[in-house]
Amino acid sequence: MEINLRRIDDLHVHLRQGEMLRAVAPYTSRVCGRCLVMPNTTPPIATADDVIAYRREVADALGPGCEPLMTIKILPTTTPDVILAARRAGAVAGKVYPAGMTTNSEDGIPGEVLAVEPPFGYASYLPEPRRWKSPSRAFLDCLSAMQDCGMVLCLHGEMPGFPVLNRELGFMGTVAKILGDFPRLKVVWEHVTTGFVAERVRLWSDQTRGRIAATITPHHLLITMDDVIGDKLMPHLFCKPFAKTIEDRRKLVEFATSGHPSVFMGSDSAPHERHRKECDCGCAGIFSAPVLIEALAEVFEAEGKLARLQAFTSERGADFYGLPRNTGTITLVRREWTVPESVGGVVPLWAGKTAAWRVEEAEVNS
Ligand code: NCD
Ligand code: ZN
Ligand code: ZN
Repeated sequence: MEINLRRIDDLHVHLRQGEMLRAVAPYTSRVCGRCLVMPNTTPPIATADDVIAYRREVADALGPGCEPLMTIKILPTTTPDVILAARRAGAVAGKVYPAGMTTNSEDGIPGEVLAVEPPFGYASYLPEPRRWKSPSRAFLDCLSAMQDCGMVLCLHGEMPGFPVLNRELGFMGTVAKILGDFPRLKVVWEHVTTGFVAERVRLWSDQTRGRIAATITPHHLLITMDDVIGDKLMPHLFCKPFAKTIEDRRKLVEFATSGHPSVFMGSDSAPHERHRKECDCGCAGIFSAPVLIEALAEVFEAEGKLARLQAFTSERGADFYGLPRNTGTITLVRREWTVPESVGGVVPLWAGKTAAWRVEEAEVNS
């Protein structure tokens, strides 16, 4: 059995820098026509000059078959001029990391700046007027500049101050407020992990003519919190946002396999060296690039939805970002193989496991 797909777009990937970049990039370029490169490097990608230099480094590591789409990190010090210059330098998206919510986010936007009143609660998700809790002119001016120059807003949607499992719900009011206040801004809620938020994004997308979309990772379609902490502690399955319940996973699978225009793949492949995961204070992030399309094929196959795989991996995201669909192809064959225990010093998703699908052929975009 064989599946032929357009080359895929990974619309959320961490490629890192230097030696790590060179080790992991080939796993992305083997199946991707394009990838949206996250800016949470050290130091962050935060200006037009950073975008130009980092694109050069990344493109070199990816090789000719995979085009990097660049992003900048929105910092508390970012100005509209910085946004416009980065856009001119080719950045397609600006990423907001709420401070302290994930890897390399300490310099992100503080929770007080992102918070709205009334705060979001389970009972209060209906549209209601909200106010910024402590409005920051600088932050709102940045969103305005992004809206004006057609830069997409990508959100790590977790609200500081909320308990870890409720941080995504705690961010919902903020997203509603942004959609309302910036009626031409396009928004991606990255790596959604709760059924509740998945349903909300779908609804908001229908209500805003598709101005909002969600990315979903392969790992959140595969694991729940029980896989991470239910038995022994599994550091290589630890990521932000933390994997949730089996009901959440079910809703995510239904959404990802629905073919709806508001959902597409962002792997959030986030490599950390083994010793930074297996230690007293382990980093969040799952390295999924080596099994990305193979794992997704198993998820879609189990649902009887292989025919929808290409929409999720190669069409909806391109459409949302206004890019032509990839013309190159990949061929997956049902042939078992064993995923390596370690790739470039990083333990990948499914390490040591037998995978059912294998990429046999790939052609780059013409
Ligand atoms: C990501 C990383 O390691 O850069 N980690 C993660 O757990 N997802 C950052 C992020 O996307 O939140
Ligand atoms: Zn994130
Ligand atoms: Zn990420």
